[in-house]
Amino acid sequence: MEHLAQKKRVPVHRHTLWYYLGGMTLFLLLIQVSTGILLLFYYRPSAEEAYESIQFLMSEVQFGWLIRSIHSWAANLMIFTLFIHLFSVLLLKAYRPPREMTWFSGVALMGLALGFGFTGYLLPWNELAYFATKVGTEITSVVPLVGGFLGRFLRGGDQVSGATLTRFYGIHVAVLPALAGALVGLHLYLVQRHGMSVPPGVERSGTAGRTMPFVPNFLLRDLVGWLSALAVLAALAAYFPAELGRKADPFAAAPAGIRPEWYFMFMFQTLKYLPSYVLGIEGEVVGIVGFGLGGLFLLLIPLLDRRTSRGEPSRLFTAIGVAILVYMIALTILGYMASGAK
Ligand code: HEM
Repeated sequence: MEHLAQKKRVPVHRHTLWYYLGGMTLFLLLIQVSTGILLLFYYRPSAEEAYESIQFLMSEVQFGWLIRSIHSWAANLMIFTLFIHLFSVLLLKAYRPPREMTWFSGVALMGLALGFGFTGYLLPWNELAYFATKVGTEITSVVPLVGGFLGRFLRGGDQVSGATLTRFYGIHVAVLPALAGALVGLHLYLVQRHGMSVPPGVERSGTAGRTMPFVPNFLLRDLVGWLSALAVLAALAAYFPAELGRKADPFAAAPAGIRPEWYFMFMFQTLKYLPSYVLGIEGEVVGIVGFGLGGLFLLLIPLLDRRTSRGEPSRLFTAIGVAILVYMIALTILGYMASGAK
């Protein structure tokens, strides 16, 4: 360990800022684990008691509202920093050999983070979450071949019910944390083993070469970022505490303005734009398969981008990365405009 602390150095160049995003994500993940464990002391995972247990936590338990609000805000912030981390390593081509495996484990972690968000959203068992989960699990049912099974597997039946809540709870507090723990371990091990990459553009410009020691120079800068994030989190949680809304009622009509969490919005909105049939295939099926293939493409980028792995400039993959980013931002904005930003 001492050896590692002495040896590790971080390249200094005009893109060094992006190296802080992985550590920031890790910090927010640790906040999620610790506040999540505290929430577990009061949360009850059943349709009869979940909503009431959160109501109790928010109104009776000392600082219960604060812990829940931080858990909810840090989840959003973590997914946000995760997106920035992903796109920065994509555009700086940090996935090129020998870091393919770092990239693969990263894409898997992104999937897990979205899974955390989707399953956690239902746990308070309120109206909005209930109907959003209904829509979300209906969308998974559209996946060709395995969709029916997947939908029933997630819901624990044909409807979103108490059985769904129990499953989502198990996935949220046991299955995903176990997988995420193992993958984060692998990801960080690989980062240590390979060191930080210098972007090809910087290498070509001939300005590479300067470095700073990880301990203490980089780590102290990391710490400044983490403390700032903590301050932002505390302010957000205090001024905009997590809401609870009304308890879910499976027999009530869906309330107006059902919409997914912001990070699913671009997919939700794309599905809305698709016509009911595309070349004789149901529009929704085309959309879901399209996103599946899109995810696979993202995963395989280190293998597909041959030019970058040969050390040549690869404008095509930069353009693809920018196009994906612009598409996601544009569709998210359109989604919020369509739902009236309620
Ligand atoms: C919970 C999720 C994640 C955590 C905690 C995490 C953490 C980290 C940390 C601490 C670093 C070193 C500092 C840095 O480059 O920022 C790093 C590097 C890296 N991460 Fe992640 N990461 C996560 C998800 C991802 C995702 C979603 C991707 C991409 C799909 C990814 C790909 C990479 C790559 C390629 C590097 C090497 C960067 C380089 O050497 O320049 N990571 N990660």
